[in-house]
Amino acid sequence: MTALVEVRDLVKHFPIRKGIIFQKQVGAVQAVDGVSFDINEGETLGLVGESGCGKSTTARLVTRLLEPTSGSIIYKGLDIAHANRRRLLPLRREMQMVFQDPYSSLNPRKTVGTIIGEPFEIHGIEHDKTKRRRLVQDLMEQVGLNPEHYNRLPYEFSGGQRQRIGVARAIALKPKLIVADEPVSALDVSIQAQILNLLRDLQRELGLTIVFIAHDLSVVRHMCDRIAVMYLGKIVELADSQQLYDHPRHPYSGALLSAVPVPDPRLAREKQRQVLTGDVPSPTNPPSACRFHTRCPKYVAGHCDVEEPLLETKQGGNVVACHYPLTDDEIAARVPTAAA
Ligand SMILES: Nc1ncnc2c1ncn2[C@@H]1O[C@H](COP(=O)(O)OP(=O)(O)OP(=O)(O)O)[C@@H](O)[C@H]1O
Ligand code: SF4
Ligand SMILES: [Mg+2]
Repeated sequence: MTALVEVRDLVKHFPIRKGIIFQKQVGAVQAVDGVSFDINEGETLGLVGESGCGKSTTARLVTRLLEPTSGSIIYKGLDIAHANRRRLLPLRREMQMVFQDPYSSLNPRKTVGTIIGEPFEIHGIEHDKTKRRRLVQDLMEQVGLNPEHYNRLPYEFSGGQRQRIGVARAIALKPKLIVADEPVSALDVSIQAQILNLLRDLQRELGLTIVFIAHDLSVVRHMCDRIAVMYLGKIVELADSQQLYDHPRHPYSGALLSAVPVPDPRLAREKQRQVLTGDVPSPTNPPSACRFHTRCPKYVAGHCDVEEPLLETKQGGNVVACHYPLTDDEIAARVPTAAA
């Protein structure tokens, strides 16, 4: 397995400032606080966790739309964590993002042809108008749009079609990596599968590596090879997709999986839901040591809140940051989510 991107100790703190003139820093939002993971070539890596845990920030750091506070992002042997605009420009072609809300990221006054052709414009590729139109129409076909709709405006397309436009623009320059930030969350359930299938087909055809962000674990499961679970700016578990679903070792992963809806009502009744209680604490002032300790059913005072658990490989190969990972008995006590 070759790593396309190696992320190490990545940190992004957003300063909170007060005062009009001196703008004194009074604190920081610890949006991402020391995450490390590899993105292997050709895989789909899922990034999941509750709202505000730092998924989008991580995505924007890896694609260098944001500059990290510290840490490294090794891409093709080079650390791009602090690369300047000139060095980043060629990398922009290789790393692209697909966003949740395709409508807000599409200029309403531009035709779809212009929108999909923008990456060629930005990177000075194919100035000949007829040839560029051909390229764009090929892309439209590739993502399942009618090339005859080249001159239409975004409002003339449905939500699913707009996401196809976003995908077409993302693959225009034949990138190596696509980071899709909740690409189907805003879509009807009936349309979601079509977009997921499109991404999967394109991955196979183009040899793409994908980072797929979601908070719906049932979506990620069928899409991803491996899944990283985030909580308050940290990765708490990283495992193969199937392994995570069958044997989640971190209490937070277990709780998230218990929240995945089970279609069978009998299973749902049997299910011992470990519903997560309480709100997510503020990333400005996160709980000490294990950040999950204020909500964890297995919390041991004097240990979990004092000594930070580090990511370690546990039973089954799951990489887990927890002093007391779920045991086989505890996992068995959960009703299987296999039907989900
Ligand atoms: N530009 C910014 N300035 C200040 N704080 C920010 C900024 N961007 C994000 N944050 C904060 O950082 C934390 C992580 O945000 P992020 O958007 O990465 O979370 P997320 O996991 O993507 O959440 P969601 O599921 O809601 O999209 C949040 O507390 C958010 O308010
Ligand atoms: S370290 Fe302790 S508080 Fe944190 S997840 Fe594990 S058992 Fe729960
Ligand atoms: Mg987000």
